[in-house]
Amino acid sequence: MPFQEVAMRKVLVFLGILALGLAFAQVRTFDQIKKSGEIRIGTEGAFPPFNYFDAKNQLTGFEIDLGNAIAKKLGLKPKWIAQSFDSLLIQLGQGRFDFVIASHGITEERAKAVDFTNPHYCTGGIIVSKKGGPKTKKDLEGKVVGVQIGTTYMEAAQKIPGVRQVRTYQKDPDALQDLLAGRVDAWITDRFVAKEAIKERKLEGTLQLGELVFQERVAMAVAKGNKSVLDALNKALADLMKDGTYAQISKKWFGEDVRCR
Ligand code: ARG
Repeated sequence: MPFQEVAMRKVLVFLGILALGLAFAQVRTFDQIKKSGEIRIGTEGAFPPFNYFDAKNQLTGFEIDLGNAIAKKLGLKPKWIAQSFDSLLIQLGQGRFDFVIASHGITEERAKAVDFTNPHYCTGGIIVSKKGGPKTKKDLEGKVVGVQIGTTYMEAAQKIPGVRQVRTYQKDPDALQDLLAGRVDAWITDRFVAKEAIKERKLEGTLQLGELVFQERVAMAVAKGNKSVLDALNKALADLMKDGTYAQISKKWFGEDVRCR
């Protein structure tokens, strides 16, 4: 085959794949989702106890239970898709999932790109360090802070005056790893994540919890303007909060009700 023909075929194959990709990756309305019988949910899978893979490599956590309960309320089969945290909202906009539940705090910046549901829990970012290490924002002067990339902790850490360096990690547990190894002086993460990590890894004698750096409302997200899905999720969440399901799931994971009040 002459070279030009081969090149042309390659271009055509490439265009074909591109077209297929565009056809499949489409933001779906709630009617389209209903017809398919399945709702696609995006999450991360590395943020225990909210969304993570357990020892048997099963996706689990508070947000997985909640997502499954929401799907059930809507009469749909959940299909979970785990992706890196920093790509979730981009892929949501491309129609890769119908909604995302991955502990996103509601921020003005994010709200420009996606639409948030009503919050499914309230929490805060907290300073974690080794015993004797920094506990307050003031203590962080001249220190190295580890945070997951693209999070509200990263944003908060960058705003603390005098911090020597903010080190970013693809996954939140990697920041904890570096704290334990002494490569960072402090880790800023979710307060429930910190509590769970200390308990789960038996680090009570090693780590300490410091100051709450900020508080946030955490919500699910849909593609910008996808009102039919937004309304369905808000309705389902409200129903679960009313009928006791939410309280039961929350008690199971935290021993308390973590809804915003
Ligand atoms: N709540 C924080 C934020 O809004 C962290 C979320 C991290 N979520 C995750 N699945 N790793 O940025």
